[in-house]
Amino acid sequence: MNLEPLEIRADLKPVLEYLLEHRGFDFSGYHPPMLERRVRQRLEALSCHDFTAYYSYLRGNKDEIDKLLDAVTINVSRFFRDTLTFELIADQVLPWIIQEKNRTGDTSLRVWSAGCSRGEEPYSVAIIIHELLIREKQPVNQHIFATDIDLNVLKDAHEALYPASSIKNIKYRLLNKYLIPDKDCFRLIPEIRQKVSFSRYDMLDRKYGVPPESVFGDFDLVLCRNLLIYFSFEYQELIFKRLHRALADRGYLVLGMAETPPMAFRHHFKRVFEFSPIFQKS
Ligand SMILES: C[S@@+](CC[C@H](N)C(=O)[O-])C[C@H]1O[C@@H](n2cnc3c(N)ncnc32)[C@H](O)[C@@H]1O
Repeated sequence: MNLEPLEIRADLKPVLEYLLEHRGFDFSGYHPPMLERRVRQRLEALSCHDFTAYYSYLRGNKDEIDKLLDAVTINVSRFFRDTLTFELIADQVLPWIIQEKNRTGDTSLRVWSAGCSRGEEPYSVAIIIHELLIREKQPVNQHIFATDIDLNVLKDAHEALYPASSIKNIKYRLLNKYLIPDKDCFRLIPEIRQKVSFSRYDMLDRKYGVPPESVFGDFDLVLCRNLLIYFSFEYQELIFKRLHRALADRGYLVLGMAETPPMAFRHHFKRVFEFSPIFQKS
């Protein structure tokens, strides 16, 4: 396999520089073919002949930048996305973590959802933890941090109002208990909303290795799902180094279905289940 970094084509570079200058989004580490495909969607929607023509359009139409960002940062998510993975988190991983905490007398439980989009993922974990702790006798202080690069999705995450498409994987019992119908949508109850702290954090941030709000990492569980697919190999490695450091000893990392640790990290993470991308720091 050729692991040489792929070059971003020259006529796409001004478009990316424009995004950096006007919105602070640095896409230089993203997988070039993915970027090209996404920007091309905008070209086609506007019938622009090439990237240069699109760049002129972008500079002359102030509404276009948001449409471009939407096309490049795909925010698709849903509650309990990948049913098996979330069942394993609920039935195995979190009970193991809590059991170990009880054994050692550690009362804090730290979770990070990196690339959380509109909050469906961290809220799913918050629901699971809430359900598990109902049965627990020991007090547990939970801290669920959720971060994304995109301020618009973080705003939606705070609102916690979801269309029907976001909730189609939720069990009826949980839907009834935690989401309230609101016109055509569903709103998460405040008790779960207040368990998650959202903040903006770029996974390639040069200053902080973990979200500054979390102060230090030491996470028992990190979910970084359907985000690595955006990045070129070298940046995937950088993000993995960061995720590895952010985890507590023997902490768990959950990836997206199509993602695996890069070669250099295979011996730092042990795969826990054959059919689900859940790994333990080793
Ligand atoms: C496809 S969504 C995944 C949402 C959720 N983790 C899931 O699997 O359902 C990918 C998210 O990663 C975010 N993202 C992209 N680049 C990022 C970066 N450099 N730092 C932090 N988040 C980023 C996007 O804004 C988007 O919300």
